[in-house]
Amino acid sequence: MHLVAVGGSDAAAERCARRHPGTDLDAVAGHIAEWNRCLVFVVEVPLRTERLILRPFATDDLDALHAIRSHPDAMRFLGGKPWTRAETAEQLARLVECDRLSAQGESLRLAIERRAAPGLIGSVSLRWVSAADKRGEVGFVIHPSHQGHGFATEAAGGMLQLAFERLRLHRVVAGADPRNRASVAVLRRLRMQQEACLRHHTWLNDEWADELIFGMLAEEWSRWTAPTTRA
Ligand SMILES: CC(C)(COP(=O)(O)OP(=O)(O)OC[C@H]1O[C@@H](n2cnc3c(N)ncnc32)[C@H](O)[C@@H]1OP(=O)(O)O)[C@@H](O)C(=O)NCCC(=O)NCCS
Repeated sequence: MHLVAVGGSDAAAERCARRHPGTDLDAVAGHIAEWNRCLVFVVEVPLRTERLILRPFATDDLDALHAIRSHPDAMRFLGGKPWTRAETAEQLARLVECDRLSAQGESLRLAIERRAAPGLIGSVSLRWVSAADKRGEVGFVIHPSHQGHGFATEAAGGMLQLAFERLRLHRVVAGADPRNRASVAVLRRLRMQQEACLRHHTWLNDEWADELIFGMLAEEWSRWTAPTTRA
């Protein structure tokens, strides 16, 4: 399976495909081909990090996804109440479609599995916020019984590597409630810089919540030795 990300408008992507109808996208996997100012990126998924496989969601992830999304501890800072099983099924139907980035505004959402033991233990996302500004946003969640092993840091590191080294984004951001100490620790461990605190930014669980904004630039990423993501 391949993730194809096209930098530019849908119309530009269509023009590009028409002009290069016989293009073997597999042949340029991992490279960037510039055709008439239309950038096409081809990246293989699943992504693999040292201990993890980051793969598209599948319909049979329902039980494992529900175990996470119905857990109050996992949901506390995610902006909603724990999901019912019906809500999880509805969301999963959307998640299985989020296996590529083909236009700004889309999110790539991948299930996290350990290489050593199959089964979904969490998820990680990369949203393509702006094509013009080359900006993305990462997010993550890990089932409480698998937290504290560095899995979120490793998975998010894999997504940052994808963002900066393959998709050539210039800036990636992440938001975290200051009370969400685990999330803040992950972002700091990734060497993202805390740039702002937006006071009372969200109405969360019947109270106003602040949001810390973390960011990383491409030049900062290249100074850091990232966890290796192998296609
Ligand atoms: C945030 C979350 C993904 C972290 O997952 P994880 O796999 O446990 O993360 P890691 O093991 O990679 O790192 C956790 C870090 O947080 C620290 N930590 C964990 N719980 C903590 C706590 N209560 N207080 C302070 N630090 C804590 C750990 O020590 C570790 O820091 P270190 O690497 O410097 O030792 C997980 O807690 C989670 O799913 N939370 C609910 C969803 C969520 O809030 N997502 C983020 C939205 S912004």
